[in-house]
Amino acid sequence: MDVQTTRFEWLLSRSGPEAYERSIVPAWMGQWAEKLIAVAGIGPGDLVLDVACGTGIVARKAARRVGETGGVTGLDHNEAMVWAAKDFADREGLSDIDWRRGDASSLACETPTYDVALCQQGLQYFPDKPAALRGMREALVPQGRVAVACWRELERIPIFAVVADALKEVFGQKAIDLFEVSSSLSAREDLRGLLREAGFRDIRVRLEILVSRLPDPMRFLPEYLSVFPVAADIAAMSDADRTAMFRRMLGRLGDFFDDDGLVVPMESHIATAVR
Ligand SMILES: C[S@@+](CC[C@H](N)C(=O)[O-])C[C@H]1O[C@@H](n2cnc3c(N)ncnc32)[C@H](O)[C@@H]1O
Repeated sequence: MDVQTTRFEWLLSRSGPEAYERSIVPAWMGQWAEKLIAVAGIGPGDLVLDVACGTGIVARKAARRVGETGGVTGLDHNEAMVWAAKDFADREGLSDIDWRRGDASSLACETPTYDVALCQQGLQYFPDKPAALRGMREALVPQGRVAVACWRELERIPIFAVVADALKEVFGQKAIDLFEVSSSLSAREDLRGLLREAGFRDIRVRLEILVSRLPDPMRFLPEYLSVFPVAADIAAMSDADRTAMFRRMLGRLGDFFDDDGLVVPMESHIATAVR
């Protein structure tokens, strides 16, 4: 394992959405978005709703797939995310995507419009998951489809498990609450049950395993962690302590290093269903 020892600048000045788009999206969310869109079977002409769109990677990839005869709406309750999503899409010439700020649990008022509703790593965070899924269902036309992706347990995603353990050791439980929420819908039957209760039929839950690569993980880690609430605590550490913590994380991922850097296997369920 070759860990860089140079000191790096802690990038707190970078906004959350920008850091997310520059680190997490290329590291793994872009790849997962392609998988979700393929599993959902999105094609030209589809009208697509991307719930909890974040910085918009799923919506942007869907927009390219549906073409000029289709359309995409991206929705997120975080205003900064929605503004950033619009900005990133405009920069890629995808200015037709309709961006909305809203709570996923209040979708019930939507008229049936969409052929497909997508939700990539968002459902776990919704306080009222049944309401959100009912709303997604009601937003769909008859025969409309949903595809929802939720991470498996932290232990199935070594980079999450190792980072969470190290953060907990240094800052305590509160530092890893978000990691635990991210894997709170890891049980296949919980996901299936929620979809069933929302009225969906033909429910199928697929286990998907993707592998991404981080050529320079010592640079990736600080930027990745800058999107989490614990960022301020990390920023307050001395350079030496912070570097030691990141090196400890990478040390524990030793088995996943090869000559080209860190190999990052990740496991997620993708549930599909019909309205
Ligand atoms: C892990 S990010 C996933 C973002 C995006 N789907 C992706 O694949 O990159 C989770 C997103 O869920 C959004 N979110 C959380 N609770 C929400 C809610 N109740 N309604 C809408 N969006 C919500 C957050 O603002 C955040 O953008």
